[in-house]
Amino acid sequence: MRQIVTTRNGGVEVLEVQNAPDPKPAPGEVVIAVRAAGLNFADILARQGLYPDGPKKPCVMGYEVAGVVEEIGEGVDRDLVGKPVFAMTRFRGQVEKVAVRANQVFEKPEALSFEQTAAIPVNYLTAYALLVVMGGLRKSESVLIHNAGGGVGLAALDIAKNIGATIYGTASPGKHEFLRQRGLDHPIDYRNQDWLPVLKELTNGRGVELVTDPIGGAHWKKSYAALRTTGRLGMFGVSTASANGLKGKLKLIKAALQMPRFHPLGLLNKNRGVFGLNLGHMWHEPDKIAEWLQAIMAGVSEGWIRPYVDKAFPFEQAGEAHSYMESRKNLGKVVLVP
Ligand SMILES: NC(=O)c1ccc[n+]([C@@H]2O[C@H](COP(=O)([O-])OP(=O)(O)OC[C@H]3O[C@@H](n4cnc5c(N)ncnc54)[C@H](OP(=O)(O)O)[C@@H]3O)[C@@H](O)[C@H]2O)c1
Repeated sequence: MRQIVTTRNGGVEVLEVQNAPDPKPAPGEVVIAVRAAGLNFADILARQGLYPDGPKKPCVMGYEVAGVVEEIGEGVDRDLVGKPVFAMTRFRGQVEKVAVRANQVFEKPEALSFEQTAAIPVNYLTAYALLVVMGGLRKSESVLIHNAGGGVGLAALDIAKNIGATIYGTASPGKHEFLRQRGLDHPIDYRNQDWLPVLKELTNGRGVELVTDPIGGAHWKKSYAALRTTGRLGMFGVSTASANGLKGKLKLIKAALQMPRFHPLGLLNKNRGVFGLNLGHMWHEPDKIAEWLQAIMAGVSEGWIRPYVDKAFPFEQAGEAHSYMESRKNLGKVVLVP
């Protein structure tokens, strides 16, 4: 089978499609013939050598797949063979065939293509945790979604829309019209202007009850300043560090040094909350993931979860897929197809 290998840290030239033996299912596992694998920003940071959670290189990245169960291991229900499914994978998703534990496998919704299905797990679980589980967003509240046009951003938009909250979102200006059509109330151009005074003006100086911030570093301080009374800040990424080579390492150090410190008394007296989220540190909580996915799948049936795939790149064009995201061109999800 073929797989996308990140051979070492570096630019997109370090990505190679290589052959490897087909995986065999261990007891309790299934082998999925992959039809589409999600590309996430973490895969880019890993290639750049900026993702501490990533496997040792050379490695195969990929947190999520949609495909068909081809083989089962001992103790797994025979009926699963031939079923269209999707799964979270702890890396090794960007392959033609992957072995995963049967309890990490979920039925593919009939109404969605394999590509759309591969766009669900990471983006929607992250957005669900941020907005519903930890952010507790309510209909009467307002939310600021940073990078609203990205994979997690669009997922968050679907969920916030369904809750009925007022939605503000930052994105490159070329994405605003599309975002308006998807239901974003107030797109803000954060590339050519300072977004904080714009948000303050739009909210009559009050700010918002929830901010989701994947940019990191000093940006978290600014997002904290955008909170209204009872506001919560969800921190979940450091996109700001994205760069190849030494530049990336220096940006990551700068981001770490500029991160805000939150004093309990400050939070108490301002009636604010802050929280962090790392979906990659949730593998020991399969019950929570399954519960959240159940709610997300209900949203698919009801029509308010609408995974949007911008582009599907063949494995051989994995480098182009990385460049597409890195250069901020993507609107929603990018997937890789064998
Ligand atoms: N903690 C977790 O569990 C978790 C899970 C999933 C994702 N994440 C994080 O969430 C963020 C979004 O992930 P995603 O996979 O959905 O990707 P994405 O948002 O689709 O990624 C690309 C988009 O991010 C924006 N962006 C902001 N700063 C950027 C930079 N320095 N370089 C390139 N693009 C930049 C760009 O859009 P605009 O500039 O137009 O806004 C770009 O189109 C990432 O930081 C990722 O690491 C965290």
